[in-house]
Amino acid sequence: MSKGNFPPGPPSIGSHPLQQYLYYRRFLADPLGGVTRWMAEFGDVWFRRDGDAHQYFIANPDMIYEILVKQAPLFAKGPVYTSEKGGLARFMGQGLVTSNGEFWKRQRRLVAPAFHTRRIAAYADTMVDYTLDRIDGWQDGATLDIDDEMMQLTLLIVGRTLFDADTSTTVNQVKRAVEVVQRASNTASLLPYWVPTPLRIRSYLANRMLDKIVYEFIDERRATGEDRGDLLSMLLLSEDENGDRMTDIQARDEAVTLILAGHETTANALNWTWWLLAQYPRVEAKLHRELDDVLRGRPPRLQDLRNLPYTDLVIKESMRLMPPVWSISRVNWVATDVCGYTFPPGTGSQILIYCVHRNPDIWEKPNDFIPERWADDSIDEIPKYAYLPFGGGPRICIGNSFATMEANLLLATIAQRYRLHLIDGVEIVPQPFITMFPRDGLPMRLEARKPVSSCEPAAAAI
Ligand code: HEM
Repeated sequence: MSKGNFPPGPPSIGSHPLQQYLYYRRFLADPLGGVTRWMAEFGDVWFRRDGDAHQYFIANPDMIYEILVKQAPLFAKGPVYTSEKGGLARFMGQGLVTSNGEFWKRQRRLVAPAFHTRRIAAYADTMVDYTLDRIDGWQDGATLDIDDEMMQLTLLIVGRTLFDADTSTTVNQVKRAVEVVQRASNTASLLPYWVPTPLRIRSYLANRMLDKIVYEFIDERRATGEDRGDLLSMLLLSEDENGDRMTDIQARDEAVTLILAGHETTANALNWTWWLLAQYPRVEAKLHRELDDVLRGRPPRLQDLRNLPYTDLVIKESMRLMPPVWSISRVNWVATDVCGYTFPPGTGSQILIYCVHRNPDIWEKPNDFIPERWADDSIDEIPKYAYLPFGGGPRICIGNSFATMEANLLLATIAQRYRLHLIDGVEIVPQPFITMFPRDGLPMRLEARKPVSSCEPAAAAI
């Protein structure tokens, strides 16, 4: 063990590949149970040696602030993101999520205008219109895989708003690719990365398929040379300080990154919201009341969001209990200290968003779904980095306002027209891989609601 101050934690795994493999297989069978048990045993920070590597597990807001904000330049994205061999970069290449340093900074500057407040406001109507289109095909009493519905909807929306492209013919292929990306990033293997296991062959094919979709967008736009003012035009037409434009490969990496990061996360935020609402009828009824009072049966528009505070709290609280990105990680390559603990070079930090969101020393009734907690004065006492569904510091999610607006609009549009019920006897299992998703889908039964028309008193519908 290196000299220094380390908190207690579970025993080291050992450095033999077989020990590591067996350990990760066991851990990956129930990651949420594992980290929850550790938090109960060790508190909000614990430490473990994995062979030669040092690993911190963190659910402490002060340490999270140090790592993501105050000492951010020392804490980079590690190989789980950046490695072309075993990390996310296999799929996303060198895009915003998987790059570091000057390259990342330049890309962030380039992509940021597509997410400015004025810009995303223009996406609101597209979000609602696609949702209305989708639910027009729903039927009272039918059972649907809501996970499938949310994925398809958010993919169509990201395709149209950011790339001005119609992804309707490719939604199923992208969904399959996302499943492979998730699995490939969370499967323990004893074999060297170049051995073509069935999963690796599927990963390769998924990657080629993502290439095909995105290169079609790029080729079509390059052929016309048109500046449509969307993100794709920004990626293809912007020049750096030397007057150089992005290569097709760079544009491909950024486009794949934004498609992958930009739809599945929001779909899962909505998935878990439907799942929670179905278990908390009091919250659901209050949400319906607000929607009926304010919208009176018409589809929501951007300006309505400021009059739908409870809808926003429902999303906020849902992302506390079930954060779509449940954990993020960093590596420090230079020795440092964080809140008195020693971080030798090469230390991995797992920031457990799921755990800090449920840390019982911070939250009252941490495992209950209580949107009202966000409107209570006591919320001011919650430390800032105790709630971070979108991460924090310079690498905070670039799509956070886009996603929040989208989740609010989709929830308001759908909840006005439908109640979604869980199916008796069907257990919904959260699977935390890169994102946290319902492992076997989210079958739910639809019950049509009667929208309140503008001439009826709102209370009549409740
Ligand atoms: C509810 C929905 C979403 C959640 C919970 C979420 C969560 C996150 C989190 C936690 C991070 C930080 C990762 C880290 O620090 O390691 C992140 C980064 C990022 N997200 Fe999101 N995200 C969501 C929606 C979106 C959307 C809609 C887009 C784009 C359309 C997007 C694009 C990105 C990108 C590009 C990054 C990397 C930013 C950087 O490193 O500069 N996300 N997201």
